[in-house]
Amino acid sequence: MLYNKIVIGCDHAGFALKEQIKQYLEKQGVELLDVGCYSTDACSYPDIAHALCANIQSGEFPAGILICGTGIGMSMCANKHRGIRAACCSEAFSARATRMHNDANVLCFGARVVGYGVACTMVDAFLNQEFEGERHVPRVAAINALDESEKQ
Ligand code: RB5
Repeated sequence: MLYNKIVIGCDHAGFALKEQIKQYLEKQGVELLDVGCYSTDACSYPDIAHALCANIQSGEFPAGILICGTGIGMSMCANKHRGIRAACCSEAFSARATRMHNDANVLCFGARVVGYGVACTMVDAFLNQEFEGERHVPRVAAINALDESEKQ
């Protein structure tokens, strides 16, 4: 993988798929930090998204993966964090494109939406794709400027 150090998190709905994705990545030598949750006991996805984003904002991890029932709640929460560009995806084309065009640093997906096979193709696409730069640089800069903007 291009990115071989990843922070990963889930809520109760994403727990089983997160465990499978962890095994998939560990087999490929990816270093993982798991910020929870650690069982199928009900928990609050905003707490997990916040813990994951803190590990990216600190510079400790370049990218992360968040899994909940739909991926939507996790992506909403992650995108409230300065410097985080989270993409909720359900197929590999978008997972690759969001790295190329948006320089996304968090991939979100839903365990109630995609199965293990599709999730693996998205993870591969996301973690193996560089940002294309060039014409996308000012656009991503404009996304980042929204962190400080009064347009919010
Ligand atoms: C949990 O039931 C569910 O709401 C959560 O996993 C997620 O889908 C929220 O967006």
